[in-house]
Order: sequence, then structure tokens, then C-alpha cells
Amino acid sequence: MKKWITFLMLSAVSTQTYAALENTTCKKCHPIIFSEYQNSMHSKASIFKDTVHKAVWDKHPDKRKGNYKCAKCHTPSDHNLISGKSKLADNPIQRTEPISCQACHTIKNIEKHAKTNKNIYNQKKKYFFSADIKRKGKKITFKEERHLFGLFTKTSGSPYHDIDYSNKNFYDGTMCLGCHDHKQNGKAFSVCNMQIKQDASKETCISCHMPKIKGTFVNLKNTHTHAFHGISIHTMDPSLLSKHIKLSLTQTDNGFDIAIQNKANHTLFAQPLRLNQLRVTVERKGETIPIETKNFIRIIGKDGKPAMPWMADTVLKDTLIKAHETRHVNYKTTLLKGDSVVVEFGYYLVNPKAAKKLKITDKSVTKFIVLTKKRFNI
Ligand code: HEC
Ligand code: HEC
Ligand code: HEC
Ligand code: HEC
Ligand code: HEC
Repeated sequence: MKKWITFLMLSAVSTQTYAALENTTCKKCHPIIFSEYQNSMHSKASIFKDTVHKAVWDKHPDKRKGNYKCAKCHTPSDHNLISGKSKLADNPIQRTEPISCQACHTIKNIEKHAKTNKNIYNQKKKYFFSADIKRKGKKITFKEERHLFGLFTKTSGSPYHDIDYSNKNFYDGTMCLGCHDHKQNGKAFSVCNMQIKQDASKETCISCHMPKIKGTFVNLKNTHTHAFHGISIHTMDPSLLSKHIKLSLTQTDNGFDIAIQNKANHTLFAQPLRLNQLRVTVERKGETIPIETKNFIRIIGKDGKPAMPWMADTVLKDTLIKAHETRHVNYKTTLLKGDSVVVEFGYYLVNPKAAKKLKITDKSVTKFIVLTKKRFNI
């Protein structure tokens, strides 16, 4: 009996051992970036951490077939799943690093396809791409130089890995587009399209979403700043991105006009579950007068009715704000001197109507998030 228990325990242990987590080594030398990453959606993109992704997957027809095609973008670091060696299952990779440090830092280039783009990964071990304008084009391997008969040593590069600064996709943001550009369903209908306008403006996916903030990027030297790795519109402080959306007000003959200037080079909130809103109230002599809320949304459907992404074959409505667009919204409320107009621009991660259908009740996902807010005193 005792032998059996030991045997069972041992076999339980052996089935529990997975390939070592890739990110663990990075943590030792890049602790700030490592801990920021824990709050990013890239560390929570699996069904085991993202309740929204799970809710949609649970209804998806591929689930019954056991065919988790979402893996190439949502969990590329679960290598056994990607190569077909194992099925989708709860494991530490799914829970902590579905899109690991390596998954991004080994993207060599992007292949363009109509259905979805494809990431082409570099297979060389411990060889990472990065961007640094001052070292652009260089490939750095670890070097230790001894001076004064070995009394002083000067090191350059990383003692753990090579760094390649010559990949242009890390300078213009193209490395994000294997997963983020567009997605078609089985009917060749575009479910999601960021309609990116790559242009000569200085801002890129990386400069806006991974701005340089305080703190060194590596323990071994003090670089003062590092590229923010906590990318998430679920939990992140909206002030990091709000400066890219400009709100302004002008009075017209019969009311006023609010302009929303989108400086991003992509459609705002293209993910089909989102609902983007402009909310306006007028404060007059201590009273608050609410004014009609404006929705910006793309509704996809079938037979004239809204439908789930895998069913949809037509666009029923599209009022999303496009790349670099300035959208004007007119209001027929005459403003008086002394009025304050309070304007809020924000989003629901999941449109409340869709949340109901998907039975999502998690408050952290169903609340309205204000991206930017401005008060105009008349
Ligand atoms: C033993 C320490 C060590 C470990 C472990 C380590 N790194 Fe590094 N890494 C460094 C050092 C030091 C530098 C800076 C080299 C320089 O500036 O010359 C660096 C630089 C980098 C850069 C480029 C920074 C730039 O200049 O743009 C990237 C990307 C990177 N590391 C990723 C990783 C990833 C991913 C892992 C885990 C797989 C990892 N590192 C593990 C020490 C380490
Ligand atoms: C081509 C890459 C790609 C594939 C394949 C893919 N997704 Fe995604 N998915 C994304 C990206 C990128 C986002 C983030 C989009 C955004 O925020 O604009 C996303 C976001 C989502 C979201 C919103 C999550 C949230 O927390 O708001 C859901 C739900 C989702 N995907 C479901 C699925 C399902 C289910 C599958 C498989 C049947 C799938 N996706 C396959 C790239 C992909
Ligand atoms: C979503 C893709 C993505 C993921 C995931 C990711 N990185 Fe990065 N990382 C980048 C990009 C892009 C840059 C280049 C930023 C720039 O232009 O300076 C970068 C820059 C860096 C740098 C240099 C920082 C600097 O200030 O220039 C280090 C070090 C680094 N990453 C380490 C890591 C580690 C460690 C992890 C995992 C905990 C990780 N990265 C996960 C995309 C990613
Ligand atoms: C390997 C695929 C992959 C790459 C590469 C990638 N992403 Fe993502 N990203 C995703 C997926 C999948 C999600 C959705 C995760 C979810 O909500 O479950 C996501 C989510 C996001 C979000 C939305 C976060 C949220 O809270 O919904 C932003 C913003 C984002 N990524 C920006 C970037 C940028 C910028 C880059 C390039 C530096 C990048 N991503 C590279 C797959 C990727
Ligand atoms: C000028 C700055 C800017 C640039 C450049 C930019 N973005 Fe954005 N992005 C934003 C803003 C602002 C938002 C909305 C902010 C929010 O949701 O918190 C956003 C939102 C997003 C989202 C979340 C959308 C959703 O519905 O979940 C994703 C994903 C994203 N961006 C990816 C990218 C990618 C990929 C690129 C490169 C092609 C890029 N961004 C370039 C500013 C920018």
C-alpha cells in the first residue's frame, strides 16, 4: 500500500514537470521589466487568466473539436501545444507566460497573409532582437576587456545572451503586427482590422505603448529609463496613453461641437467586443444636465442581426474612429456664459449587451473606463 502511494506521488510529480519557464532567467537581470510584464495582457492572454477570452472560447465551435487555433497569437510560448504534442491544458506557461519575453524578442520578421499575418521566429538560442537608436545595426556579443594587467575589467553586452540591434521591425513597430494587424474568420470575413496607417510620424506602436519610463532596464548597469512592459488597456493607468487623444470644444450657431483627435496610427477599439463612448454633461448654476451619449462601434453580423465573430459575414454598422482621424460630434444645446461642459472619452472592454450574452459579470471587465476627460468653462 505504502509503495503504491509513493508510486502515485512520484508519477504525479513527473507529469507535473514542465519545461523550465522561459522568463525565470530573465527575471534575475531584468527585474523591473519582469515585474511590469506580470500586469500586462501579454502575460494573461490565455483562457486561464483572461475571463473574456475564455467566455468567447467556451462558445466557439472549435472548442468542441478540441482545436485551439487561437494559440499562435494568444499562447505562442506553449511550445508543446503549438507543435501538436499536447492539447490545451492548464499549466504554468498558460498561466504566467503565454506570450513570453522570448516570444517577442525572437520575432525575426512578419509574413503577410489575408487571414492573419504570421510571426517568423529566429531559432538561434539566446539571441534576442532589440532597438536602440545609438546602436542601430550592431550585433553585440558579451565581451570582457582587461586593463592594467587584469586589475580592471570592462564588460559590454549581456553575459547571458547576444543582442541584435539590426532588425528594423523593432524600430518601426512591425514586430507587433504578426498578431495585431487583422483577423478573418473561416468565411474570409474581417472580424478585426486595425487599419494601420504606417506613416512618417515619429510615433510607433512601441513608442506609444512602451514609452520610456523611470528605472533601469538591467541590474548590471544603471540605464535610468526602460521601455514600459506592462501593456494593458484592462488595468493600466490611462494617463500613459490619454495624451494621444485630444478633445476640443467650439461653439456653433445653435449649440457646440466636440472634436476628438485620434493621434494613433490605427482605428480606435477595433476589437469587436469593445464599445467606445463620448459622454457629455453641462453644469449650469449647480445643476447637472446630461446630454446624449455617443457610441463609436463596429457591429458585425449575419442576416441583418448581430452575430458572434465566427458566424459574422457582414458589417452592420461602423462608426469607429480611424487612424489620425478627427471626429466631430454636434450637440444642439445652446451654452450660456458660466456653463461648464464636462467631456469624457472612454470605453467598455466588453459592450454591456455582449457581456450579457456571454454571461460575463466580472466587474473589472464590465466597468466603463475613462481614457481622457476634459472640462471646458464657457
Ligand atoms: C546574466 C544577466 C542577464 C540575463 C539572465 C538576461 N539578460 Fe538581457 N541583458 C543583460 C545585460 C547586461 C544587458 C545590457 C547589455 C548592454 O547594454 O550592452 C541586456 C540586454 C537585453 C536586451 C536589450 C536591451 C537594449 O539595449 O535594448 C534585451 C531585449 C534583453 N536583454 C532580453 C533578455 C531576455 C528576454 C532574457 C531572458 C531570456 C534576458 N535578457 C536575460 C543581462 C541579462
Ligand atoms: C492573429 C492573431 C490572433 C488569433 C489567431 C486570435 N486572436 Fe484573439 N486577440 C488577438 C489580439 C492581438 C487581441 C488584442 C486585440 C485588441 O485588444 O485590440 C485579441 C483579443 C481577443 C479577445 C478580447 C480579450 C479581452 O480581454 O478583451 C478575445 C475575446 C479573443 N481575442 C478571442 C479569440 C479567440 C476565441 C480566438 C481563437 C478562436 C482568437 N482570439 C484568436 C489576436 C488573435
Ligand atoms: C509584446 C512584446 C514584448 C514582450 C512580451 C517583451 N518585450 Fe522586451 N521589448 C519589446 C520591444 C518592442 C522592445 C524595444 C523597446 C524600445 O524601442 O526601446 C523591448 C525592450 C526590452 C529591453 C530593453 C529596454 C529598453 O529600455 O530599451 C529589455 C531589457 C527587454 N525588452 C526585456 C524583456 C523581458 C525580460 C521580457 C519578459 C519579462 C520582455 N522584454 C517581454 C517587446 C517585448
Ligand atoms: C505573439 C502575439 C503578440 C505580439 C507579438 C504582440 N501582441 Fe499585443 N496582444 C496579443 C494578444 C493575444 C492580446 C490580447 C490578450 C487578451 O486580452 O487576452 C494582446 C493585447 C495587446 C493590447 C491590449 C491590451 C488589453 O488590455 O486588451 C495592446 C495595447 C497590445 N497588445 C500592444 C502590443 C504591442 C504594442 C506590441 C508590439 C510591441 C504587441 N502587442 C505585440 C498578442 C501579441
Ligand atoms: C500615437 C500613439 C499610438 C500609436 C502610434 C499606436 N497606438 Fe495603439 N493605442 C493608442 C491609444 C491612445 C489607444 C487607446 C488607449 C486605451 O485603450 O487605453 C490605443 C489602443 C490600442 C490597442 C487596444 C485596442 C483595443 O480595443 O483593445 C491595441 C491592441 C493597440 N493600441 C495596438 C497598437 C499597435 C499594434 C500599434 C502599431 C501599429 C499602435 N497601437 C500604435 C495609441 C497609439
